[in-house]
Amino acid sequence: MARKFIVGGNWKMNGSKALIKSLVQETLNGASWDTSKIEVVVSPPAVYLDAVRQAAKPEIGVSAQNIYSERSGAYTGEISVDFLKELGVEWTILGHSERREYFKEADEFVGKKTAFAISNGLKVIACIGEKLHEREADQTTAVCFRQLKAIADALTPQQWASVVIAYEPVWAIGTGKVATPEQAQEVHHAIRGWLAENVSAEVAEATRIQYGGSVNEKNCVELAKKPDIDGFLVGGASLKPEFVKIIVAGE
Ligand code: G3H
Repeated sequence: MARKFIVGGNWKMNGSKALIKSLVQETLNGASWDTSKIEVVVSPPAVYLDAVRQAAKPEIGVSAQNIYSERSGAYTGEISVDFLKELGVEWTILGHSERREYFKEADEFVGKKTAFAISNGLKVIACIGEKLHEREADQTTAVCFRQLKAIADALTPQQWASVVIAYEPVWAIGTGKVATPEQAQEVHHAIRGWLAENVSAEVAEATRIQYGGSVNEKNCVELAKKPDIDGFLVGGASLKPEFVKIIVAGE
């Protein structure tokens, strides 16, 4: 079964009303790609989700950057799945390395939130990836498998239909140091192998695995040729018109 290429734009803590107008209304709405082959999701900061959902053409999905694992209550500052559903936001990113690092999100918490999001009708871009010292210590797959296991332990096999894995080596995020296509393919292949062994052959075959980490208009084409790279999660370049070139790399 062919996996549909999926390109996400993670704006992180960037953006403005002006960016929504120039990037979403003018650039992305004005661009075209083969929607039978490519899915696009943009992930602005929470306060802009409503405006982006209203501005973006329907074939562009909109994603939160995080949610909380409870529906409502005394959780100051948190984002509920219900808020997202009311706004027509269908996706959330979870477990981004910046949340793991700066906000001390543990593997199990990411797994719990992934299950909660999916049980409440959202789709999830679940991020995993190793730090530089872990790669240098030959721990890349051990770290990815540990993070993946915490997600898999929280999910039923059916829920994997709502998951996209984003492999983001931390040393490549925002650094301009992109993994080579071979390095990325090697880890993506290992992730798919882990899914085959620990979830099922069907889930391994169907689950899309994005690469994230300094993807730009120059490196995206070679990365997209690799058999286990099913899309990208783009940070910095998703704030610029070059995001369109990264989207169409999936064609
Ligand atoms: O979520 C996106 C990634 O963290 C990649 O960010 O493209 O700025 O390196 P970047």
